[in-house]
Amino acid sequence: MIYAAVMGYGTIGSGVVKVIEGHHDYISKKTGKDIRVKYILDLREFPGDPYEDLIVHDVNVIMDDPEIDIVVETMGGTKPAYDFVKRALLAGKSVCTSNKALVAAYGPELLKIAEKRNANFLFEASVGGGIPIIRPLNTCLTADKIIGIQGILNGTTNYILTRMEDEGLGFEEVLKDAQALGYAEKDPTADVDGFDSCRKIAILSSLACGKTVDYRHIYTEGIRLITSEDFLYARAMGRSIKLIASMYTDGYDTHAIVAPMMVEKSDPLYSVRDVFNAIKVTGDVVDDIMFYGKGAGSLPTSSAVVADVIDAAKHIGINLKVFWNDEELQLCGIEEQKRKFFVRVKNSAKQAAAEQFEVEEFIDAGVEDETAFVTAPMTEMAFAAAVGSLPGVIGRIRMC
Ligand code: HSE
Repeated sequence: MIYAAVMGYGTIGSGVVKVIEGHHDYISKKTGKDIRVKYILDLREFPGDPYEDLIVHDVNVIMDDPEIDIVVETMGGTKPAYDFVKRALLAGKSVCTSNKALVAAYGPELLKIAEKRNANFLFEASVGGGIPIIRPLNTCLTADKIIGIQGILNGTTNYILTRMEDEGLGFEEVLKDAQALGYAEKDPTADVDGFDSCRKIAILSSLACGKTVDYRHIYTEGIRLITSEDFLYARAMGRSIKLIASMYTDGYDTHAIVAPMMVEKSDPLYSVRDVFNAIKVTGDVVDDIMFYGKGAGSLPTSSAVVADVIDAAKHIGINLKVFWNDEELQLCGIEEQKRKFFVRVKNSAKQAAAEQFEVEEFIDAGVEDETAFVTAPMTEMAFAAAVGSLPGVIGRIRMC
């Protein structure tokens, strides 16, 4: 018998317990591992809950029990998650977490402790919820140098953008509705301002490059400024607007960004709608591959956490090497990134736009008193300088 403890009995923690216990016989048959949840750590009581008897309030019960080989961390945030996870690893227990904030901030340190203690620090659910992406990067794609990763890594913003596109609504209106329906948090900042996607692409970039990509150094823009008119232009161009998180490396220079982008119809990310996530990975051997599925939710996320628990159970006393050390990878500044830009301007600025930019096309979407254009590829620095001196600019979105 292998015993696990779950820290945090919220949406994900309760799903994890339900899957480990509810699928116990199936998991045991499929993997040969007899795994049971021995404790659930939470500050609250859960009267009437089927696993009420497993609730403990003191983390020392878990840390001091030599029978606990695996600790699941589903508390979220870094305090006290970081202290608890570190203690568990130092005690030689493996940790499986869904916590992207913890992994993005302390990943390499926690991986190093796990390695020293012949234990494992696993975090499949920290990016893409139920989508297997961390394990494929760590196992299936080890023959490849990863050249690029591009994804829709946040379900909340993708849901909001999809509804804006389908129903012609404004951002604030859809956000309020999404909050009422429970799709968006009361404080939506982490999702709508791109911070959640930023941490996720930092984790993926670190695993792709083997060094630490500091999420604080990734240029990040959210979706608050996207309007229903932007979608009229997107439609006129046969495109959609998605919050894209991406990294690209040639082995020397590495670029990363999180920002809303105009995605063309032929791009598989175009068809990713609602709360779904998708991640495109480009390897120098395999070429392009894509992962798609539910990026959030109790059961999809639990699927990933419990797969980690099973992996940990199969490797007790054996550290699984993860390609991610604590040396910081210096990202190139945003100003060096090169792409096309979509720009909306007042009609009166059309002539000036044609003079100041190499315009690839003007777009008419029937919006009163304005027009839009797409630039030829240019650096962010050149674009910022040119757009700064153009009068009548209404907005701009990067082309994907
Ligand atoms: N808030 C996240 C999302 C949940 O909307 O995708 C999963 O990290």
